[in-house]
Parts: sequence; C-alpha cells; structure tokens
Amino acid sequence: MKILCPIRGDYLGKKRRLSWAVMLDGKAIWSLNSVPKESVYGESLRKFRGVEYRRWDPTRSKLGAGLSRAKKSQYELLPSEGDTCLYLGAGHGTSISHIYDQVCGKDNHHKGRIIAVDISTRCLRDLIHLAKNRPGLIPVLGDARKANSWAMMMPSKVDWILQDVSQSGQCEIFVDTANRFLKPGGKALLSLKAASERFTNNSDREVFTEVRNQLESAGFSIEEQIGLHGLEDNHCLYFVRN
Ligand SMILES: C[S@@+](CC[C@H](N)C(=O)[O-])C[C@H]1O[C@@H](n2cnc3c(N)ncnc32)[C@H](O)[C@@H]1O
Repeated sequence: MKILCPIRGDYLGKKRRLSWAVMLDGKAIWSLNSVPKESVYGESLRKFRGVEYRRWDPTRSKLGAGLSRAKKSQYELLPSEGDTCLYLGAGHGTSISHIYDQVCGKDNHHKGRIIAVDISTRCLRDLIHLAKNRPGLIPVLGDARKANSWAMMMPSKVDWILQDVSQSGQCEIFVDTANRFLKPGGKALLSLKAASERFTNNSDREVFTEVRNQLESAGFSIEEQIGLHGLEDNHCLYFVRN
C-alpha cells in the first residue's frame, strides 16, 4: 500500500492534513483506511491519489465533532502514531476505528496500542469484531469507575486518554483515571454530556463552567474547551494536559 507521510498542515490540493492519516476536505474529515475496502459504520470510502480514506462523521463521534469545532487545538487533539491510548466508553467503536487509523495504521505498522473499555457486553461484541483485523486494539469489558478491575490490562501509563461515558460523575471518573494512568505531559479529552450530571438543575453552560473549575482545581491545564452544539447537542469536549 502506498502511504503518504506528509508534514502536518500540508495541503494536498484543497485538502489540509491534521496528521499523517487524517485530513480535512472543506468540512469533511477523512482518515486513511487501515483495513482497505472495509466501512465500519456505513461511512463512505474514497480514494485520494490512489489511497483509500474513510469519512469521519462528526455527528457520530465526539472526537470527530471536536476536530470540526476546535479553534486553536485542531492539530493537537489526535494522539500521535505509535501512541498508547486509553478510551473509556468505547461504544461500538465508531471513534475508535478512526483513532486506530491514526495511531496504528494498516497491520499496526506504527506499533500503537488502544485499550478500549466499555461496560456493555453488546458494545464489547462489536469491539471484538473490530479488533479481529486491527492488531493493537484491545477491547476490555469494564466499568470506568472500577479501574482496579481492568488495570491489569493496562501499561502503567498512557500517552492519550479519551473518556465518553455519558453518565453522572463524569468529571470525577476522568480526574481519577488521568491521575492514575496519564503520562506526565500526556493529553486527555473529556467528552461531557451536561444532561448526565445530577449535581445541579442549572443550564448546560453552568454545568460546563462548573466542570471546567473542577478540572482546574484538580491541577489540569485546559488547552481548549470545545462546544459541540449542532453536532453533539448538550456536549462539551475538554482538552487538557497534566
Ligand atoms: C456515548 S457512548 C460512546 C460512543 C463512543 N465514544 C464513540 O464515539 O463511538 C457511551 C458509552 O459509554 C459506556 N459506558 C457508560 N457507563 C460506563 C462505565 N461506567 N464504564 C465504561 N463504559 C461506560 C456505554 O456503554 C456506551 O457505550
């Protein structure tokens, strides 16, 4: 397979590269397909200069929505190729499949690793199916709140974390996880669904501010708080470093 390894920010015709495997074409996001001819969730496939890409639907992926909406950290949100990543609330693998294209690539030639945790057996079944031809993707059935029960599947520290569990106490789970598993200088993203929080009857905006304060009090530096309204309503993505 012909692999393009251009510099980040390069232009390929009208397209703009966010990384070696992900590019923007107008508003559309594309990731280089690590399993050619395979569409994971019905997304379209298209060849650019003879290389196949998958369209990343930002209405079905908080990370995709974050890439669409980020104002200053668009180039920083993605993990790097070869990184070790932890994803809490992996769902059916929609976002994971695109992260795999970036972190691992075909046959995991970048030697990346993605530990994909979800509490639902139904999701796990889909993740196991996804992992069959994606070496380096490790599905784990587990509760994000009970890290002790899945920590044996983890390396001691990871480069990148994404949490998207859409349940109450999202911020506390995120802080505990990042404190325990994120490398110094590592990157972490919290997708927060305002409606899942019970600590207040306040507006989404007030919930988002409260969580921002909690993250800062926990010692995280917030690189960007990205509103996802219009793509993922009532959601906000916090991009932090420790
Ligand atoms: C919004 S979906 C995730 C979608 C996925 N992130 C994506 O973009 O493709 C939320 C997921 O979190 C999972 N979940 C909820 N509570 C959890 C918990 N305590 N631990 C692990 N997973 C959890 C649910 O089973 C569900 O699959």
